[in-house]
Amino acid sequence: MFIGSDNNTIKKAAETIKSGGIVAFPTETVYGLGADALNPEAVAEIFKAKGRPADNPLIVHIAELDDINKIAEVSPLALKLAEKFWPGPFTMILPKKDCIPDIVSAGLPTVAVRFPSHPIAQRLIRESGCPIAAPSANLSGSPSPTRVEHIINDYGGTEKIAGVIDGGECFCGLESTVISIATEPAVLLRPGYITPKQIMEIIPDLQISDAVKERLKDGEKALSPGMKHRHYAPKSPTEGIVGNSEKAAIYINAVCLADDKKYGVMCYDEEANLFSDKLTVIPYGKESNPTEQAAKIFDVLRTFDSLNTDKIFIRLTGGDGIELAVYNRLIRACDHNITNVSNNPLVFGVLGLSGAGKTTVCEYLKAEGFDHIDTDLISREIVPSAKKELINAFSDIIFGDDGELNRSKLAEIAFSSSENTQTLNAIMHKYIMTEVADRILTNFRNGVPSLIDGAALLEAKADLLCDRIIFVKASTNTRLNRVISRDGIDEKKAMQRFARQQPEKVLEEKSDFIFDNDSDANFHEETKRLKKYISDCRKDV
Ligand code: TXA
Ligand code: MG
Repeated sequence: MFIGSDNNTIKKAAETIKSGGIVAFPTETVYGLGADALNPEAVAEIFKAKGRPADNPLIVHIAELDDINKIAEVSPLALKLAEKFWPGPFTMILPKKDCIPDIVSAGLPTVAVRFPSHPIAQRLIRESGCPIAAPSANLSGSPSPTRVEHIINDYGGTEKIAGVIDGGECFCGLESTVISIATEPAVLLRPGYITPKQIMEIIPDLQISDAVKERLKDGEKALSPGMKHRHYAPKSPTEGIVGNSEKAAIYINAVCLADDKKYGVMCYDEEANLFSDKLTVIPYGKESNPTEQAAKIFDVLRTFDSLNTDKIFIRLTGGDGIELAVYNRLIRACDHNITNVSNNPLVFGVLGLSGAGKTTVCEYLKAEGFDHIDTDLISREIVPSAKKELINAFSDIIFGDDGELNRSKLAEIAFSSSENTQTLNAIMHKYIMTEVADRILTNFRNGVPSLIDGAALLEAKADLLCDRIIFVKASTNTRLNRVISRDGIDEKKAMQRFARQQPEKVLEEKSDFIFDNDSDANFHEETKRLKKYISDCRKDV
């Protein structure tokens, strides 16, 4: 397989096409796999190399406007569109002329025609002296290639294609916009870099095929055969996630933390730091920049393939411009498996220092329907599951003859060095987070809001699972009095306990809502304020 970018390589590629071979070449959209469009045997090689279903027709590429007349029936509308969008990432479907073999049009009476703007593509077509039939140069079903490495990945080490011209990275990154003007009214079959709005300046009544945004219904005939085939899909199962960034991250984190599988997420740049470090996170551009996303999606999908994840989540938004093209490719990468997380119930975290009255606030939230997830309780309950790992780390002296955990022994060993503390935390936090994540997912299914409290909230990063953090605040004096009377300890002991806790400032900075619990007289007013806050959070999706 020859690879190069110089004049000789282009010449060699043109010779190959003239003599009935197939080569990959760059266009401004994606790489194409080209053959002489007028030679049915050569075109058959493309179908063979890609493993492409015979019912999926190819686009014929030209490099002189006049050449359109040789292959298709041209209307004044076609010429108007050509003048506006060619050369460029735009394909028109027109009634075909007889010279186009059936294999190119998959037996349809129409032909798709495009005049690419990429200089290498244009030179190749001109030097070959024939129109070039070319689908995207990927193996059928996988993401389209936007860099030479993608083609080497698909065809390297095989004799399937003669060579590839290296044109660097493709500018658009996704395939051309396809419209059919063989029908009345004209229909957008595949969104791309040229947007519906641009086309509507010429065709105001342009229809948008349902298949652009939805799965074809059973038995429904595809206007464009390519739309019914599974496409762009990475090897591992993929789930599209619609909804705001925070809700999406909570859901994805919960799924990932609830088991031991390997998950990945393809997200917007600004979301990258919302995810658990258990996930492989690959951003694909700013949420507000679909042009950047378009250029990256196929490369990122292919990167995930090489990582062997068990499942990939993909963040989706949609829109009318280039967003529509990005959305169209991604819903198909997900095989239309899309979860909308906008209405997932709330998850609150509750923080507070000893004696601040966190429990009272938790009781209030429970009465409001929140499921109370107490990480301190969980950490006690998970000991049997963590037993093996704890013994591996600290030997079996931490368990008594009765098989029960000897907590003071464990504390003595675990807190004897920071290394031991870290080991204990790593084991316990993993189990706690699995439990918490699992509870939250169950609550999502049942429409129940969750509240998380306990030491693990910040220590184990359970705040990654929270929409909002509530900080319950009271003055040191109030807290002191409460702790002394509640726990029957003296002031000195109480102060010692306070000294071991995180500084108030740290907790306050982490929080979104401060519940002032300094005086009991205030409690009622504060709960009213909290109630309003909960309802505002519910609206804020
Ligand atoms: O940007 C592009 O268009 C790239 C570069 C290489 O030019 N090519 C490309 O080709 O994406 P391909 O084969 O991957 O996609 C062509 C799409 C398919 O969905 C196919 O079903 C549709 O165009 N198509 C081709 N001829 C058609 C026809 N006569 N009627 C309806 N749909 C057609
Ligand atoms: Mg394709």
